[in-house]
Amino acid sequence: MELSDNLIREFRPSKKVVVLTGAGISAESGIPTFRGEDGLWKRYRVEELATPYAFQTNPKLVWEWYDWRRGIIAEAEPNPGHTAIAEMEQIFPDFFLITQNVDGLHRRAGNSEIIEIHGNLWQLRCVKEGTVRENYHVPLLDIPPTCECGALLRPHVVWFGESLDKEDLARSYNVIGECDLLLVVGTSAVVQPVASFPLMAKRRGAFLVEVNKEPTPISSLVDESLIGKAGEVLPALLGLIKEAYRGRQ
Ligand code: OAD
Repeated sequence: MELSDNLIREFRPSKKVVVLTGAGISAESGIPTFRGEDGLWKRYRVEELATPYAFQTNPKLVWEWYDWRRGIIAEAEPNPGHTAIAEMEQIFPDFFLITQNVDGLHRRAGNSEIIEIHGNLWQLRCVKEGTVRENYHVPLLDIPPTCECGALLRPHVVWFGESLDKEDLARSYNVIGECDLLLVVGTSAVVQPVASFPLMAKRRGAFLVEVNKEPTPISSLVDESLIGKAGEVLPALLGLIKEAYRGRQ
């Protein structure tokens, strides 16, 4: 893949960089994406598994599905795409990562400046008290799991029909509203409000780069669309950034 000098110039370490990721970044770790031919939403009905109504009607079924996904993720490792993004956090003093993924792989790769805007599937929330705890049992000991107070625990993720966490959203708007460079990786860019972040960044005057294995609805908006696998394109991009700015900030 050809990466132009102009593109690498946009990645000066003095820039405020935001990376926005979706399921595609974890695809090469063996974690299924949601849309596309092999996507989860081809095989499962979202309304039966990822809505508050689904959980009210059949918490066991919902938890069996999440338990299955936790099993896949527990076996998975961060891939070179995750690692490249973790290294970027070290290179750019002003760096932020917003991910729609609930798999926790970015943290495992080493990112710490991160908002998991759709939650995290290793966290469980009491439906009565709202308390959140971590739980790494695979498989879960009880399905559905319950809180000490007797109420059900649910995955601490955002379901369809639910609002995003207010603080996470406000912080995301903040960093998007101030960034110089937005790198969008492996998202179909159709789920709101995250799908509108690239347009917000563009309006603010940021340079937009997309990495995806195929064109998406934002491809016509971005300044550079890099078609390829995140696990290959991101390490190549990082290599050139390091070469261009070695020893300089
Ligand atoms: P999608 O499954 O909608 O999109 C995955 C994107 O990744 C597609 O555009 C693929 O072309 C791309 N892709 C796949 N493999 C790739 C690879 N190896 N390298 C680069 N790109 C690759 O996933 P999201 O956009 O993350 O929401 O979906 C957004 C939200 O919809 C999810 O967070 C989830 C889902 O329903 C909730 O659960 C609330």
